[in-house]
Amino acid sequence: MVNNIYITGFMGSGKTTVGQALAKSLGYQVTDTDKWIEEMEGQSISTIFKQYGEPYFRDLETNALQQISGNQLIITTGGGIIMRPENREIMKEKGEIIYLQCDLEEVFLRLNDDTTRPLLEKEDKSNVEKLYQSRLPFYEEADYTINTTGKSIHFIVQELKSLL
Ligand code: S3P
Repeated sequence: MVNNIYITGFMGSGKTTVGQALAKSLGYQVTDTDKWIEEMEGQSISTIFKQYGEPYFRDLETNALQQISGNQLIITTGGGIIMRPENREIMKEKGEIIYLQCDLEEVFLRLNDDTTRPLLEKEDKSNVEKLYQSRLPFYEEADYTINTTGKSIHFIVQELKSLL
């Protein structure tokens, strides 16, 4: 059994839902980097992007990874957190990383009506696909990868528990 568990994956891959269900099942605490940032800044992710820009938000993500610690903690992360080498190093040092892989078509279905994610606001599908492809090698550095496409939360949690 491991200490801290980081859950990574593209927007819409189910990180928050799976993280909460896994935490409940393991008796772990769960924290989300986006929620942590919103609480610290007193602003939504969307507003932070609009007012200060993406690089500022990325600095907040690194700070969140540095600050959030504890024992037996599940940390769900924003989809872009794996872009910075420094962030990947912090996660590797402090715990195990799980990558929730999800087919892009399912991601599009899940995020169809989403209005909370700044990176989806202006982008057409082909740009989102480019973003997805460009991130794959970094997601794949995870300790464990699980394909969540078409699977129930219960099934995913059982699969994860058998891996950890
Ligand atoms: C982002 C994903 C979002 C959030 C922010 C940027 C990204 O989190 O951190 O909008 O760069 O992929 P989710 O992956 O939880 O949607």
